[in-house]
This record gives sequence, C-alpha cells and structure tokens, in this order.
Amino acid sequence: MALSEKPKPPRHIAIIMDGNGRWAKQRGLPRTAGHAAGAEAFRRIANYCRTLGVEYLTVYAFSTENWKRSADEVAGIMKLLRRYLEEALRDMEKNRVRFCFFGDLSKLSPDLQALCDRAQKQSEDYDVQVNFCLNYGGRDEIVQAARRFARDVADGNRQPEELTEELLSTYLYSADVPDPELIIRPSGEKRTSNFLLWQSAYSEYVFMNVLWPDFSSADLDAAIEEYHRRNRRFGGV
Ligand code: IPE
Ligand code: IPE
Ligand code: MG
Repeated sequence: MALSEKPKPPRHIAIIMDGNGRWAKQRGLPRTAGHAAGAEAFRRIANYCRTLGVEYLTVYAFSTENWKRSADEVAGIMKLLRRYLEEALRDMEKNRVRFCFFGDLSKLSPDLQALCDRAQKQSEDYDVQVNFCLNYGGRDEIVQAARRFARDVADGNRQPEELTEELLSTYLYSADVPDPELIIRPSGEKRTSNFLLWQSAYSEYVFMNVLWPDFSSADLDAAIEEYHRRNRRFGGV
C-alpha cells in the first residue's frame, strides 16, 4: 500500500519488544544475539514510525523485573544500549529524534546514565519523541509518583484533596505525553508485564505472534490496521 493510502497512524504507539530470547534459541544462538537483532528491529521500526508520522513511540527495553536474568545477559543488554545511545548521539542531526527515558535510571551504571542524560539534553528541540523504558515498571512509576506527591504535601506545597487523575499524571514519567492509543506486544505473550499500567487504561492492545527481531514494517502496518478496525468507546455507547 502506498504511504498516502494508509490510514493515519495513532499519535502514540507503544511496543513491548519481546521475543529476542526465543528468536536466538530457534537459531542455536546465545540470548545476547537475540537482543542484538532486537536492537536492529528497533532501529528499523523507529525509522518507519517517523516516516509514518507517529509523534510518540514508547518502547519497553528493560523492566524492573529483568534484573532477575543472568549477569551475562544483563551486561549484554546494557552494552547494546550503550552502543545504541553512542550511535544516536553521533547521528542526532540526521535522525532528529527527541529522546526521553522512563524508569529509575539511578540503578544503571554511571556511564549509561550520563549517555541517557546527554541524549535527552541534546535532542530536546526535536519533535518526534522516543520514550525509552529502562529499568521501568508500571507499578514502580506509580509508587515514585505517589512518593513525590507525598513529599510535596509534607513540604506544604500541596493539599491531599488537590490530587486528581490529571494531577497524578503530572508526577509520572509520561507527564507531558498523551496516553498511547495503541500498544503492541509481539512474541505471542498476552500480558502487560508491568508496562504503562496507568497510561494504558483505554489503550487498544494488539498481540502478535511474530518475535520482535523479525518484526517488520508490514507487521506495524497490520497492527495499525487492526487498531483502526476497533471501536473505541471509552465507557460510552
Ligand atoms: C525481550 O525479549 C527483551 C528484554 C526483556 C530485555 P526476551 O529476552 O524477553 O525474549 P524471550 O521472551 O525470552 O523470547
Ligand atoms: C517484558 O518482557 C519486558 C520487556 C520487553 C523489556 P518480559 O519477557 O520481561 O516479560 P515476561 O517475563 O514474559 O512477562
Ligand atoms: Mg520475554
């Protein structure tokens, strides 16, 4: 289908980039090779989202639960992230993507934190926004928000009664970002695994059987088409 014939994509797409390990296993490769292929898939799909005119792309790259994996696997993922961010910093002018990070970055190594910080600062004038979820958990995000609100109350800057859904949203990592209309999970699993618990209240979920490293632009088109077939009611009729 030509780009002009495609239905307008949602403003905000979120993806649980899952299935790297199984992709590697199928090929008799180490899990890290699956993560490397997953990073390639991310580059491909982020570019494609930009071509389509998606304004926000939120990707789940590492969860608060992923520390349970072997030290080798975690180190391999962190190495890939480092490599990706270094490359993104180098190609910033060309790609013109704005980087944001959702998650508790304080648990990452100082050099990785510094790269995240630089990527965020150096890209803040660009429009298309990629939200990287790193050491991210939906429950953790809500706890951190509640803690910061409680701190504001304790400091006398807020009253408990002031708290509304809108105000609580401003304490989340996603403060300035509209909720995702579409959340895609490849790999065949049908669960949220602690992703965007608050923001997904009315998101449309599309679960797909493809493993993330194999995810193609045609798969994204298919997910967007499925999204357009849904009837969103938001509790109305
Ligand atoms: C997703 O792929 C990547 C991360 C969680 C970092 P997995 O590594 O979970 O792949 P599977 O689910 O084991 O196939
Ligand atoms: C979710 O996938 C986290 C990321 C894709 C980063 P997992 O593979 O960690 O989730 P579970 O273990 O299948 O629920
Ligand atoms: Mg998985």
